[in-house]
Amino acid sequence: MPPLQEVLYSSLLAPDQSTRVVGQIVTRARARNQQEGITGLLVFDGLRFCHHFEGAPPAVGALLDRLQADRRHVDLRVLYAGPLATRRYQRFEMGLAEVDDHEDLADLQALEGSAALAHFIALRSRFDISG
Ligand SMILES: Cc1cc2nc3c(=O)[nH]c(=O)nc-3n(C[C@H](O)[C@H](O)[C@H](O)COP(=O)(O)O)c2cc1C
Repeated sequence: MPPLQEVLYSSLLAPDQSTRVVGQIVTRARARNQQEGITGLLVFDGLRFCHHFEGAPPAVGALLDRLQADRRHVDLRVLYAGPLATRRYQRFEMGLAEVDDHEDLADLQALEGSAALAHFIALRSRFDISG
C-alpha cells in the first residue's frame, strides 16, 4: 500500500467573497481531486471552512501549497497533519457539508492536533453530506 497523508485545517471565507464562491470551489476541486487522488470533506458554516483531505504525500503537499496561496479564504490554520494507513473517504473526491450551526466549527478551531481530528470525525456523523 502506498503511503497516505491526511490534513485537517480551518479557514475563514475572505471578507470580499460571496458565499456563492463555495459552489465554484467545490465543482473545480472535485475534478482536480479526482486527477490527483485526493479524497475528503469540506464543511462550510457560512463563515468558516473546515476541510479534511487525504492522498499521497506529494499530492497532499501540493494541495496545501495551493490552498495557502488561495485568497478566497484567510486565516488558514492546519489543525492536524499526519500519516494515514487507509483512506477515511472512499467515496468522495470532495464531499460538501453546509451547516447552520456556527458553534460546531468554532469549537473545533479551538482544538489542535489529534484532539481536533477526533472532534471532526465525531461531528462528521451529524453532517448532511452531499457529494
Ligand atoms: C476552502 C477551499 C477548499 C479548497 N479545496 C480544494 C480541493 O480540495 N482541491 C483542489 O484542487 N483545490 C481546492 N481549492 C482551490 C485551491 O485553493 C486552488 O485554487 C486550486 O486547487 C487551483 O487549481 P486549478 O488551477 O486547477 O483551479 C480550495 C479552495 C478553498 C478556498
